Amino acid sequence: MLIALRIALYIQVLLGLGRFLGFIRNNVVWETHLTLGIIIAVLALLALGAHPRVRQNATRTLARFFPLITLLWGLAMWQGLIGGRTVVMLHMLLGLISVGLVERAGAQQKRALEGGRGR
Ligand code: HEM
Repeated sequence: MLIALRIALYIQVLLGLGRFLGFIRNNVVWETHLTLGIIIAVLALLALGAHPRVRQNATRTLARFFPLITLLWGLAMWQGLIGGRTVVMLHMLLGLISVGLVERAGAQQKRALEGGRGR
């Protein structure tokens, strides 16, 4: 599940950057960003929850919830509750932080399952 989450996140970065830079104009293609965002938030909640062999530390908890925060921010943008360039830039930052946190939590999990201490 973690690998699916990571792949989805990288596709999300590409879609987001593509839209921001004006490469993605097709709305059907762009709507994938919203759908994938929901999938990512759910996957992160499921994949980074309690695991018998992995310690639930701060990185893992942040990685679990950051995509959801990014999604809520994006949904507020989508609904027109918030807007403007700064809001979009902050959303992109939240998204990129989500990627970093998930990568870090994924590496910790891999080490823990390979016999390390999971830190
Ligand atoms: C956890 C990851 C992410 C989630 C859940 C997410 C979710 C969303 C949602 C729900 C929207 C509103 C959709 C719409 O307006 O149709 C949105 C818009 C957007 N997102 Fe993301 N996003 C994520 C990551 C990223 C990343 C990494 C980037 C770029 C680096 C990015 C760039 C954008 C841009 C540019 C917009 C549209 C702004 C506009 O044209 O109004 N997103 N995102």
